[in-house]
Amino acid sequence: RMYKSRTICRSDIDSFEAPFLAIYESLIPPEEEKAQQKQLLTLLEKLVSKEWPNARLYLYGSCANSFGVSKSDIDVCLAIEETDMDKSDIVLKLANILQSDNLQNVQALTRARVPIVKLKDPVTGISCDICINNLLAVVNTKLLRDYAQIDSRLRQLAFIIKHWAKSRGVNETYQGTLSSYAYVLMCIHFLQHRRPAILPCLQEMETTYSVTVEDIECSYFDQVEKLRDFGYYNKENIAQLVWGFFSYWAYRHDYANAVISVRTGSIISKQEKDWTRRIGNDRHLICIEDPFETRHDLGRVVDKYSIKVLREEFERAAEIMQYDPNPCVKLFEPY
Ligand code: CTP
Ligand code: MG
Repeated sequence: RMYKSRTICRSDIDSFEAPFLAIYESLIPPEEEKAQQKQLLTLLEKLVSKEWPNARLYLYGSCANSFGVSKSDIDVCLAIEETDMDKSDIVLKLANILQSDNLQNVQALTRARVPIVKLKDPVTGISCDICINNLLAVVNTKLLRDYAQIDSRLRQLAFIIKHWAKSRGVNETYQGTLSSYAYVLMCIHFLQHRRPAILPCLQEMETTYSVTVEDIECSYFDQVEKLRDFGYYNKENIAQLVWGFFSYWAYRHDYANAVISVRTGSIISKQEKDWTRRIGNDRHLICIEDPFETRHDLGRVVDKYSIKVLREEFERAAEIMQYDPNPCVKLFEPY
């Protein structure tokens, strides 16, 4: 693969800044949609608190981490101390509680790996998944949202990458490709590594926020309003970053040895994590360390077939960014 390696970008790359920004802006959810999500959450809170006054509902995922595009479903976490009920019992009871009101399609999925209640708000058409006590997801949602506030280019890049991944069919964990969460971590890692850097490593800085969830200490610097000038010396625009992102994953990432780690702001070795061989279903063919659950490789869903699909997609995208006369269209063509 090395003969294809390039480090010099095409000379007309800056002419694609405006079209990429236009795509980004077209994906931002309108205020009205955000207000409707809030309303639905308020309704759910009302229904839940009647039965469980001490329970709380948290938004997590793309509706709360600022990487949600328009028309996304919302992810909700019910935090509840019910020691005598397992998660599938709680899900059944929750579905009953919510059924009583005029919500559509309230379903309890008790046998899923992660038991959830699924429902749809008939007024707005918003779909919602409610999981139980997944507080690590709530905390990693805050981490992503905090990173997004440091430099606007993160949100721009992540929207473009997520849009590309959905258009090209490589955002399907059940088919062995990557979750949106994994793609956002790849974007954060990439921006931590630009020179000059566009993002810092919040977990390596002074602790201003700390919670312990499931015996995992989650701590980092969260006073991000103080970091608004962090990326000032890097003048790269979104077109250059999209090019850089894809050429990194197409030609420069060391798939055999490297693990990307937002937690440390660096690349660490598979050796160090003991991720050098397949264990059970974890193959570690592309390694993305979860920032808090550090034993968790977000690339573990990728198998020997889907790694090929992914790398071919990265190469296709890199080639388009390098040569195509119309990359802002070609990149997102359906597969
Ligand atoms: N999550 C996690 N570990 C994973 C996958 C997801 O903790 N392996 C949590 C994260 O908090 C993430 C949320 O679940 O933000 C939702 O995951 P996902 O659907 O991948 O991301 P969204 O940001 O909701 O993306 P989309 O817009 O595609 O729904
Ligand atoms: Mg989601």
